[in-house]
Amino acid sequence: MRKSAKYLAAVAATAAALVSPVMVAAQTAQKPLPRLADIMAAVQVRHSKLWAAGQQKNWDLAGYELELVKASLNEAIALYTDIPVDNITMIDPPIRSMEKAIDARNGAAFGKAFGELTSGCNACHQSTGRGFIVMTVPRASSSGNQSFAPREGQGKGATRP
Ligand code: HEC
Repeated sequence: MRKSAKYLAAVAATAAALVSPVMVAAQTAQKPLPRLADIMAAVQVRHSKLWAAGQQKNWDLAGYELELVKASLNEAIALYTDIPVDNITMIDPPIRSMEKAIDARNGAAFGKAFGELTSGCNACHQSTGRGFIVMTVPRASSSGNQSFAPREGQGKGATRP
């Protein structure tokens, strides 16, 4: 073997050694599903932000957060098909009331729909043996690093997620 060929062989061997068996296993294994509890933790954050946006009558933000609540619930239902269908349809009417309240920019209707939505969360938790997970209407925003107040001229041309 010539000197340069020897060198190249050594480089190749080093590169192969850098690929750890753990990395190979992780890359070839199927990607794990996001945990249902983690999807729900995202729903929890958006549920809280939805409330904070509604309190400040920031309807663009409220609409945005509601879309994210819906997207996560859809994801949960699509990935975890063992969730009973009745529980899924149970949450639909409050979501529709909420959409209407936001479109109408109606604070009173928003408050009512928010209560119904929260009951819908708890109804599903109860019927899936998770009655110990009790959602409530927040008393204060849990996101101290985000402003929920509407700004002049905001949301022009913005699209929902
Ligand atoms: C269709 C049924 C269903 C609906 C609707 C639902 N959840 Fe859940 N949720 C579950 C299930 C099932 C679990 C338990 C997941 C687990 O333990 O793996 C859960 C768990 C949770 C958790 C616990 C996660 C944690 O980190 O503590 C929170 C918080 C939560 N849900 C919030 C909500 C909120 C807020 C809503 C309403 C906007 C909602 N959920 C609507 C089925 C539902």
